[in-house]
Amino acid sequence: MEFSQHSANISSSLSSPPVPFWWQPSQHAHFNGFWFPGSDNLRRTLKVVENFKPQSRDVILSSFPKTGTTWLKSLLYSITHSSSLESLNDNHPHLLVPSLELLVFAANQPDTAAVPASPENETGTRIFNTHIPYQVLSDALNSSDCKVVYVTRNPKDTVVSLFHYVKKSKKFEESPWTMEEAVDQFCKGVIPYGPYYEHVLGYRKESLENPQKVFFVTYEELKEDPNAHVKRLAEFLGFPVGKKVVEEIVRRCSFGELSNTAVNKSADMFTWLGLPNNSFFRKGEVGDYANFLTPEMIQRIDAITMDKFHKAGFIYGI
Ligand code: A3P
Repeated sequence: MEFSQHSANISSSLSSPPVPFWWQPSQHAHFNGFWFPGSDNLRRTLKVVENFKPQSRDVILSSFPKTGTTWLKSLLYSITHSSSLESLNDNHPHLLVPSLELLVFAANQPDTAAVPASPENETGTRIFNTHIPYQVLSDALNSSDCKVVYVTRNPKDTVVSLFHYVKKSKKFEESPWTMEEAVDQFCKGVIPYGPYYEHVLGYRKESLENPQKVFFVTYEELKEDPNAHVKRLAEFLGFPVGKKVVEEIVRRCSFGELSNTAVNKSADMFTWLGLPNNSFFRKGEVGDYANFLTPEMIQRIDAITMDKFHKAGFIYGI
C-alpha cells in the first residue's frame, strides 16, 4: 500500500483538531474501511504505517481494544525476559510494551526513530503493541521477519469491557455513553479501530496463511488452559521455556497477581491516554456480558457474529 494513497484519502480528516471524546462517533476518522479514534490518532497511525521498520527479532502484539492486550503484554514480556520477571512488580504492562501509535510514534517523538520504552532483552528482542488493523499495517509487518501475536475475545465481552473502560475516562462525565450506544456503535462498526469483525478476520486470515508469522489466540482459550498456550507462544517466539517457568509466568501474569501490584492498582493517570493505570484491570472473566447486555442486545450481536465469523468459517463468539 502506497502512502500517496493514504495521503489522498485522509487529507480532509487530518485537518480536524485532536479528539477529546474518542468514543463518540462524531469524532472518529475513517480510513481504509476502519474507524480511528480521532484525526490525531490517525495521523500517528499513518506515521507508523509509513515509518515503522520492524527488526527481524521484534514481536508485534496486535489486538482490538479490550480483548486482553494488557494480559498478553505481560505474557510476552515475561516469555522474552524470563530472567527479569520482577520488572512486572514496578512497571505497568503498557510501559513495558509500548504502543506504536500511542507512544512510540506520538507527536513528541521523531517520525522515524521508533524508540521503545521497554529495553531490548539480551537477544535484541523488542516488543511493541498496536491496534492498527492488518489491512492497514500489513506492508510494515511483512517488511521483516518480525513475529506477530494477535489476541481476540468474544464480541459481547469485548463491548462490555470497552463500555466500562470508557466510564473510567476523565472525560466521561462531560460526554457520557450508554450501553445502548456502545452496542449500537459496536454493531455498526463505528467504534475505535472498528469494525471489530473485520479487524479479527484480517489477522486470522493471515495467521491461517502464514502461521510461522502470525500467532492467533483467543482470550477464552488462554483462560481455559494458560499453561498450554504460553508454552506454544514461547515456542512460536523462539524462546522455549520449561514447565516450571511456564507455570511461574502464568502465575505472575494472572489477573489476581497483576491487578494487585501497586502500580497497576494506582489511580494515577496515563497522561497520553487520559485514563488511570487501574482502568486496564476490571474483572478479567469470560461471559461477564450476561450481567450487562439485554436479550435483544445479545441477539443483535450474535446475528452479526453468525454472519461475519461463522459464514467465514470461524466458529467463534456465540
Ligand atoms: P474486563 O473489562 O472484562 O475485566 P485490554 O488489555 O485489551 O484493554 O483488555 C482489558 C480486559 O482484559 C479487561 O477485561 C481486563 O480486566 C482484562 N485483563 C487485564 N489483565 C488481565 C489478566 N492478567 N488476565 C485476564 N484478563 C485480564
